[in-house]
This record gives sequence, C-alpha cells and structure tokens, in this order.
Amino acid sequence: MKEFGVDRECKVARTGCIGTCSVGPAVLIEPGDYLYQSVTPEKVRDIVRDHIVLGLPVKDMLYSNREYFKKQHRLVLRNAGKIDPLRIEDYIAMGGYSALEKCLATMTPQGVIYEVRTSGLRGRGGAGFPTGQKWSLVARAQSSPKYIVANLDEGDPGVFANRTLAEADPHAIIEGMLIAAYAIGAQKGYIYIRSEYPLAIQTLQKAIAQAKSMGLLGNSVLETPFAFDLELRFGAGAFVAGEETAILASVEGRRAMPRPRPPYPANSGLWQKPTLIQNVETLANIPLIIQNGGAWFAKTGTPKCTGTKCFSLTGKVNNPGLIEVPMGITLREVVFDIGGGVADGKKFKAVLVGGPSGGCLPETLLESPIDYDSLTKVGAIMGSGGIVVLDEDSCMVDTARFFTEFCVDESCGKCTPCRAGLARVKEIFDKITHGQGEMSDIGTLEKSSVFIRDASLCGLGQTAPNPVITTLRYFKDEYIKHIVEKECEAGKCFKTRDEEEEA
Ligand SMILES: Cc1cc2nc3c(=O)[nH]c(=O)nc-3n(C[C@H](O)[C@H](O)[C@H](O)COP(=O)(O)O)c2cc1C
Repeated sequence: MKEFGVDRECKVARTGCIGTCSVGPAVLIEPGDYLYQSVTPEKVRDIVRDHIVLGLPVKDMLYSNREYFKKQHRLVLRNAGKIDPLRIEDYIAMGGYSALEKCLATMTPQGVIYEVRTSGLRGRGGAGFPTGQKWSLVARAQSSPKYIVANLDEGDPGVFANRTLAEADPHAIIEGMLIAAYAIGAQKGYIYIRSEYPLAIQTLQKAIAQAKSMGLLGNSVLETPFAFDLELRFGAGAFVAGEETAILASVEGRRAMPRPRPPYPANSGLWQKPTLIQNVETLANIPLIIQNGGAWFAKTGTPKCTGTKCFSLTGKVNNPGLIEVPMGITLREVVFDIGGGVADGKKFKAVLVGGPSGGCLPETLLESPIDYDSLTKVGAIMGSGGIVVLDEDSCMVDTARFFTEFCVDESCGKCTPCRAGLARVKEIFDKITHGQGEMSDIGTLEKSSVFIRDASLCGLGQTAPNPVITTLRYFKDEYIKHIVEKECEAGKCFKTRDEEEEA
C-alpha cells in the first residue's frame, strides 16, 4: 500500500476454499464480496492498486460466473472462504459457538433433540438416517460412558467436501459435536480422519487447541457442569474404514473391518458403549438448527429431505468444484446451470452420482431431483456427495469396470459375496473389454450384481454393484456392441497389454 502512497492498513487473511476449484487461487475482497480468480503475484499488484487504493474493481479479473453461486444455498459452507479457519475469533465473530451457549444456558438435552428432529436433518454420510432419531436412541441407551465419533474418512475417490469443510471451518464441526454430546450425554469424542488429509488434520488440531484454551472443551465447558473432550484418530486410507462399524474397530486400535449389525453403535459402539457416529457435514448443520430452530431449517429442501447437500462436482464439466445445493434441485440444474455444462463442447453421456458405488444415469434422468429417495429409485445413491460428469468419450462398460476394480481393491475380504463376487464380476469385465465377451456374460453380470448387493455384509458390497446395474439398465447397447461387434465407440477398450500399460 505504501508503494502507492497510501498509508492505510489492509488485512490479508488465509481462508479455506470457497469452492471454485477450477479458477484458484481465488481472492475475496470485503466489503462487497469481490471474488478475483486465477490470481498470480503479478495480478495482486493490479488488484491492490486499482481496487484497494483507487476503489475501482478490476473487472476483467473478477470471477464472472454468477451462475455458479446463483443456484447454490450455502448453509454448511457458510463460512468457507470467508473466515480464517485458524482464528477462533473469526468463527465467533460470525456467530460461532452462540448455538452451544444457547443450548447450555437455555435448553435441556431433550429440547435440543426435539429441534434436531423437527429440522428433519438426515445423515449426510450416505445412508440418510434421520439424525434426531439417532440422537434419541443414543440418549435413551442405558449404559455409560457414551461416545461420539465424527466421520471424516471420506474414502470415495474424487470427493473432497468433508476435507474442504474441515480446512475452511473446523469450529463448525467442533460446535456441532459439542451440541450433540450435550444432547446425548457424551463426555468424550473422536474425529476420525484419514491421514491423507494433512492440512485438514493440522487445521483441526489447531482448532481443538484454541477451543480448549477458551474453555469450550474440557471439564467445564463455558463454566457449566457440562464436560466434553475431543481427540483426533487417523485412518489409513481404506474406503471401507469409513463404514461405521469399521471405524469403531479402528478407533479401538484394531484393523478397520466392518461387523454385522445389530448391535448398532447407538447401543453398542466404542468399547461396547453407546456411540453416536455422525458425518461431519451432518454435524456442521447443527449450530444453525439450534440457532434458528428446526422449523426454519425444514423450510429448505423437500418435505422428506430437508436442508442442503455438499457435492464435489468433477469430471468433464466446465465449472468443477465444491458446491452446496438445496435438496430437491435437479441433476440438470447441477450439471448445466451450476456446472456450466459439458467441457470442451462435447456431448453429455452420463452422470455418476454417489461415488465409486453410485449409479451412472443417462440424459433422460437429468430431471431427477437430488434427494435420498429419488436417487435410490433411479439406481444411484447420495454416498458422501460425489458427482462425476461423463462425456461422449467415456465408455460406460469401461466406467463400470473401473469402479468394480476399485471396489475389488477396497473390499476388506471378510464376506464372500463381496470378496469373491466382485472379483468374478471384474473378470467378466476384463473378458468383455478385451474382446472375449459372450452374450451370456450380460445375464451373469446381472445375476451376480443382485446377489452381491443382497448378500454382502456391509454397505461396500451392498452398493458396489450399482455402477454395473445402472450401466446395464441404461447403456445395455454399449455392452452388446462390445460383445457382438467387438467395438468400443469411445475407443477405451480392446487395448493390448502394452497399450494398456502405456495408457
Ligand atoms: C464402504 C463405506 C464407506 C463409508 N464411508 C463414509 C465416509 O467416508 N464418511 C461418512 O460420513 N460416512 C461413510 N459411510 C457411512 C457410515 O457408515 C455412516 O452411515 C455415517 O458415518 C453415519 O453418519 P450420518 O448419519 O451423519 O451420515 C460409509 C459407509 C460405507 C458402507
């Protein structure tokens, strides 16, 4: 500033990501919400001189894609890109921890649960179980002590919503956990986070230390009789480690393998004690619900699926990034309005919703609303919020083979349908994509998929066949072309081993 003859202070703060991944690094200038895109050190000089010193925003450097934010509704990501995640004071200045204060000062645990039930909030980790109902179950469980585990494993490839939340607004997760702990009667909590997220880990560690130093964690939270302490636990990058019973094993120091349910963690979780396991996005909604009331929250979204959902929007789309949308928005609005349509002028082929065990949906289903029940109806899942756009250059047989291979690698091997069944499905895909497919393979794929889905022990095996089932349902002609005409229109299959290694 001095260089331009101005003796004024301008505070520069590091923030988390605002979600516009394709045009980073981004700089937000307040007041006025001016967002500059693809900022370089050279551009910074122009921005300081023109915008800050002269008060003239540099129009051609501003993020101009208003559509990207227009249809978003940012509740969970309310502070992302707007506060310094390493300063608890910033979170407090945005109203942070006032919901906790409200709970401790004016609400009973039952009153808190009532608000969460009224909100209609459902778990954002994939299954969509009603959050208030889960809290009631843990609160009613007779045994003690009780625990709470925040799930930040996020093992789906290409999904980064939970990581971004932790890096951008760690106190929203911590405050959500504190309120949940107060409601269910837990005194100890763990955040289970994959060790491949070093920045998120660092940010959470600092946030926990700050919360402790301000009396928000510890023996007497905000000088009340409520006690709660929090630690991080690290996963080692297995997809299955995000499954709730596998997390329990891992936190207890064993290998992250799922076990049959019942007993459910609500009754018998960590060290056989009642345990609330909740996705971090679910938890970040809680302070808002307490602050504004459950009925307020329920006004966003659909009657059966309230609130918003964060999605990592990736693949062949013009505006990839992290988005938060109201439940009930259609896939078309996400892909074409927010996402800006298919990149490089190519034709839309499909959208994979729900990560590696999600469903591949064709253009005819783009009007489907995004909510748990509608997605399940068309063969997809919410998962932990991955949306991948595929264009005309994608082969649907190869796509299903790719995700099957991922699940074969990630299967923990405990149950036979998942371990042996998925491996068999993968063998059939290898046959088809190498020109040795037979028409009977289609029936075998269909039968095996249904069997694996119905007979597997945990959600990994139960959902792994989704890409196979949906590509067979919506893109069967591509399978037939591969088998009968030995042709892959996208040019992905029928490669020799040497060509594959080169690719
Ligand atoms: C293979 C597999 C992986 C999972 N990974 C995650 C994950 O990374 N994060 C998550 O919150 N839930 C994950 N889940 C769902 C959890 O088991 C559990 O339902 C969830 O953490 C509950 O929290 P919620 O009610 O807030 O969604 C996974 C489930 C399966 C079967």
